[in-house]
Amino acid sequence: MLHQALPGRFDLTTEAYQALEKLLADGKVRAIGVSKFMPDHLDALLKTASVVPAVNQVEVHPYFTQPAVQAADAAHGILTQAWSPIGGITSYRGTGTSTSTFDDPTITAIASAHGKTPAQVMLRWHLQQGRNAIPKSVRPQRIAENIDIFAFQLTPAELDAIDALNTGTRGGPEPEAITLEAFCRDIPEA
Ligand SMILES: NC(=O)c1ccc[n+]([C@@H]2O[C@H](COP(=O)([O-])OP(=O)(O)OC[C@H]3O[C@@H](n4cnc5c(N)ncnc54)[C@H](OP(=O)(O)O)[C@@H]3O)[C@@H](O)[C@H]2O)c1
Repeated sequence: MLHQALPGRFDLTTEAYQALEKLLADGKVRAIGVSKFMPDHLDALLKTASVVPAVNQVEVHPYFTQPAVQAADAAHGILTQAWSPIGGITSYRGTGTSTSTFDDPTITAIASAHGKTPAQVMLRWHLQQGRNAIPKSVRPQRIAENIDIFAFQLTPAELDAIDALNTGTRGGPEPEAITLEAFCRDIPEA
């Protein structure tokens, strides 16, 4: 997966993606994808790409849902894969509000109504809306909890209520702020 686009030097982004296409052609990997690509980055990539990325891994949780990115992914047949899918970034980095997704009253109310946890409600929301989600936990009990989301169903009104929590405030870095000056690292092995 290409971790991010380099908007100011998209030629380097294209070159890096071509390396992924070669890995795929050589049978070294089964699928290739991108991460944090905005709609204009996808358009630019697909001008030269011979393989459509399997996934676009982007920040999606109830407080930041990126509907335009999800629509662009869908239009190109790319699966949206949600990082920080249960809003980890809202608690470990903070969004400027004191509320984390785990304590959000809308989410905790829906969780209580189904006898589920807030994490399970958020993961079910992704599942029902057709996204792939990659929650992280170091605790076996939570890992088991996070996969146990197949025996209940959120209503359309509950899905809408979670969608309405979108603040439009990104937790991760702005994709346009990714520059060589700020992020360039030498990789001697490369
Ligand atoms: N492409 C990118 O730029 C990018 C950026 C960020 C992350 N990611 C990927 O996305 C994955 C997940 O994102 P993330 O770690 O930022 O956030 P996340 O999965 O939304 O949340 C992880 C946080 O939630 C806690 N947690 C997990 N399950 C829980 C549960 N059932 N109940 C309560 N708390 C729970 C974890 O703590 P414990 O571990 O203590 O349970 C951890 O603090 C990462 O592993 C990484 O691979 C990608």
